[in-house]
Amino acid sequence: MSGNDKNRVIIFDTTLRDGEQALQASLSARQKLQIALMLENLGVDVIEAGFPVSSPGDMASVREIGLALKHAIPCGLSRAVDKDIDAVYEALKDSHHYRIHTFIATSAIHVQDKLKKDFSDVVQMAVRAVKRARNYTDDVEFSCEDAGRTPIDHLCRMVEAAIDAGAGTVNIPDTVGYTLPQEFGGIIKTLFDRVPNIDKAVISVHCHNDLGMATANSLTALEYGARQIECTVNGLGERAGNCSLEEVAMAIKTRSKYFEGLYTNIVATNIARASQVVSGICNEPVPSHKAIVGSNAFSHSSGIHQDGVLKNRETYEIITPESVGFKDNNMHMTARSGRHMIKACLKNLGYQDDTYDLDSIYQRFLKLADKKGQVFDYDLEALLFFSEDDDEAQFGLLGLNVVAGDKNIIPTASVKLRVGKRTRIDAGTGNGPIDAVYNCITRLTRIDASLTSFNINAKGEGMNAQGQVDVDVLYEGRQYHGKGLSTDVIEAAALALINAYNSVYRAKIIHTKENKE
Ligand code: KIV
Ligand code: ZN
Repeated sequence: MSGNDKNRVIIFDTTLRDGEQALQASLSARQKLQIALMLENLGVDVIEAGFPVSSPGDMASVREIGLALKHAIPCGLSRAVDKDIDAVYEALKDSHHYRIHTFIATSAIHVQDKLKKDFSDVVQMAVRAVKRARNYTDDVEFSCEDAGRTPIDHLCRMVEAAIDAGAGTVNIPDTVGYTLPQEFGGIIKTLFDRVPNIDKAVISVHCHNDLGMATANSLTALEYGARQIECTVNGLGERAGNCSLEEVAMAIKTRSKYFEGLYTNIVATNIARASQVVSGICNEPVPSHKAIVGSNAFSHSSGIHQDGVLKNRETYEIITPESVGFKDNNMHMTARSGRHMIKACLKNLGYQDDTYDLDSIYQRFLKLADKKGQVFDYDLEALLFFSEDDDEAQFGLLGLNVVAGDKNIIPTASVKLRVGKRTRIDAGTGNGPIDAVYNCITRLTRIDASLTSFNINAKGEGMNAQGQVDVDVLYEGRQYHGKGLSTDVIEAAALALINAYNSVYRAKIIHTKENKE
């Protein structure tokens, strides 16, 4: 599969940039790395890891991702200004190969009302930005923000100028999800008809889903010559989201005849896992009816459909759940399973052993196996996502005891917590056992945040499930998310709050450092 293959559709994933910027609570560097490695396993070609100039945290995480990726190309976003472009270079300069993605708005409303400039100035800024980025790398992408609403003459002029300046990829975003498929396809067609140097660049599309057209618009653009699609897992993103990676990948694969042999490098059988990983880490549930990855996407409720499927699956099923990686969780382990088994199971789930610490996972697996008896592959995966490196985190749960009962008993808790290198203990009451635990944790950590949401879900199936608690806390105007998983829901609740408070603590440290610099 060569990079010049005209049938190959490049998949540019922006879950960690456009997707992440839409989340209530931002992700930690570790969570972003986990997603990036999963995307690489999924076969994504380009991974937009973040917007380095936006914060030192983003800069560090883009750098870390850039160094960890082996095949996928890491990319960082920048406005068309020097300091942003330099920040992407700083973040990615030690990576094997990297892309600088620079953008400026081109529609009249953005140029006049947001940038308060003339279109000619904007073209000059774009050319300057692309040239500056080209001093750092050969792989430069330029985006015309709000291209969907840009007068076509302006768009042609901008695309030609960006290619002349050295952009190897030019992206045409429908930033506000305004266009309709034939209209958007028409824009791409006109670019191919009128821009004289268009053959020197890959034309990319980046469609938002405000009218529910993101996938249709992106696929239509392929028919007119676009060869890169920008998308996110589960369609995560600003407002109604971005084009969904799994939808375009499976449409291209399932309808390859219609698309006359176009293909992507996406490993279809890794799609279900990718969806679950992103949904779990980002705390964004996948709607049950979501195409390709929703829990109902392959279930047939009507009697007529069930009858048809029993006679011939293809009557009502155009893709199978197995083809996108949904399978029965039949791998199970016990406390007698050795490290090799754990490593093999994680490999089977798509995790290479250099992406996790086997010793630490194994120790936690043994504790879980003692409590649960049988450990399933989804439990093992949860250990990866719920791992809080004990030495790195400021707070760690060392012990917990609760008394709860009917209305004659006052719910009481005692909590033992590691705070930095010290151990602290507190006891108290609450209006329920979890409230009592939360009061203790709040006093012990001295983090006075307000709890804005609390959810308990079963992770896994039936009686074998563990309890997963997700909390959001509000601290100094920012939301922080925490998760906890345990066979005991009160412990899961405690772990979730501690997890959120560790994020608050980390943010406080970063903020203090930034103020000192
Ligand atoms: O939607 C958009 O226009 C963007 C650009 C920065 C590519 O996200
Ligand atoms: Zn976007």
